[in-house]
Amino acid sequence: MRYSSPTIGPDVIDIWRWSLDVGMDDLPRYVTALSEGEFARASRFVHERDRLRFIVGRGKLREIIGRYLRVPARRLSFACNAFGKPRLAASRPPLHFNLSHTGGMAVLAVSDRYHVGIDIEKIVPLKEDVAGHFFSPSERLALRNVPPGGYLEAFYRCWTRKEAFVKAHGAGLSLPLEAFDVSIDSVGEPRLLRLEGDLEAPAQWRLLNLTLPAGFVGAIAALTADNDISLRYRADEAAEDVQEEMPLAARVLRGSPDNQLLNRASRM
Ligand SMILES: CC(C)(COP(=O)(O)OP(=O)(O)OC[C@H]1O[C@@H](n2cnc3c(N)ncnc32)[C@H](O)[C@@H]1OP(=O)(O)O)[C@@H](O)C(=O)NCCC(=O)NCCS
Repeated sequence: MRYSSPTIGPDVIDIWRWSLDVGMDDLPRYVTALSEGEFARASRFVHERDRLRFIVGRGKLREIIGRYLRVPARRLSFACNAFGKPRLAASRPPLHFNLSHTGGMAVLAVSDRYHVGIDIEKIVPLKEDVAGHFFSPSERLALRNVPPGGYLEAFYRCWTRKEAFVKAHGAGLSLPLEAFDVSIDSVGEPRLLRLEGDLEAPAQWRLLNLTLPAGFVGAIAALTADNDISLRYRADEAAEDVQEEMPLAARVLRGSPDNQLLNRASRM
């Protein structure tokens, strides 16, 4: 499918944020947006809350991407790269996006220019030495110099910056977490400090902090060459949704008779 050209531009990355916990009234519109494959994935979640959150996450992602491309949400077609990163199946015009979710909240980064990755985490106490397992030697050293009261937030800054970079890079878990360093400071713009085998990388990549509700930390990474970018936080403009005549949610919902909540939605 050929899509309409989105217009975001070279200076900005759009950031969308929404709750994954919605009322039953809103559920059918997300269910009808899903593909058969996504619906099948939803039905494999063991816990109902996870299933509904996946539906709302993917359904809303489709709505938002559909708005940029002026295509109804359910007509979008997605594929994954070799490492599992989702992208639009049709590549022209390009529209890059990446999703992250945690604790009932989702964020989506969208750019019509740059490969992007986004990560958010809810700050919870750590039960083990996670940094020792996942961070590079210089990140571990930087973390050791953080005063004890600031450790947890510094840990999550490092974690989300690394994860955002991995997700933007596109190589998934095949990119060793020790092969690159990120800054962990709270002041100034975050930075990619090193990428093994690529001396130019620190100048090519931008990392930015996300502004999130208290208790959450997040970062975004984008391959912008040497362009400066800022983040544009988008409000939900539901009135702009691209609509088409859709079958009743019940048509799709029928595939999962054991799903209590979705069946309730189908009776609405
Ligand atoms: C799957 C992964 C991409 C992110 O997982 P995560 O942090 O648990 O989850 P997030 O909520 O941030 O992102 C999930 C979304 O990213 C997208 N995604 C999936 N695979 C991806 C990939 N290879 N690259 C980029 N994005 C990907 C999907 O949209 C996914 O949403 P979905 O689950 O609803 O389909 C992967 O990087 C991972 O497993 N990371 C953990 C590895 C690790 O040890 N990190 C330590 C960092 S210091």
